Amino acid sequence: MSQVGRTLAIIKPDSVARGIAGEIVSAIEQAGFRIRGMRMLRLNRERAEGFYAVHRGKPFFAGLVEFMTEGPVVVLALEREDAILKWRELMGATNPANAAEGTLRRRFGTSIQRNCVHGSDAHETARFELGYFFSEAELG
Ligand code: CMP
Repeated sequence: MSQVGRTLAIIKPDSVARGIAGEIVSAIEQAGFRIRGMRMLRLNRERAEGFYAVHRGKPFFAGLVEFMTEGPVVVLALEREDAILKWRELMGATNPANAAEGTLRRRFGTSIQRNCVHGSDAHETARFELGYFFSEAELG
């Protein structure tokens, strides 16, 4: 069953540094998402570790935190029908090498770590991740 929902997107430091944040925002809008919140910020180590706490202990965790703190990111609260699924479709597979043609990670990702964008993977994750960056009052 489809329903209007929200998801958290991050345009990662590799994309911001390359100057393609605007192109990614444009692709998000063209895909029918409403942008309910958007902010550029730089994560520090504590904030990146807290965001990715479910991955703590995995072999890629330290590298992931280092990458996510290397420069500014853009965090977005996205809304549309089936937001979580549709944003995951637009992003493509985690590893750009496996991502479908036309997806953002296929177009802009350069490795499984430097994969250009992030998205929530489930309803509960989306609630946690949206709350990590945006207050309820801010999103309306
Ligand atoms: P993301 O969707 O932000 O969620 C967790 C991130 O960890 C993922 O994108 C990748 O950037 C990174 N990641 C996941 N698996 C690996 C891996 N095997 N090696 C390196 N980085 C990974």
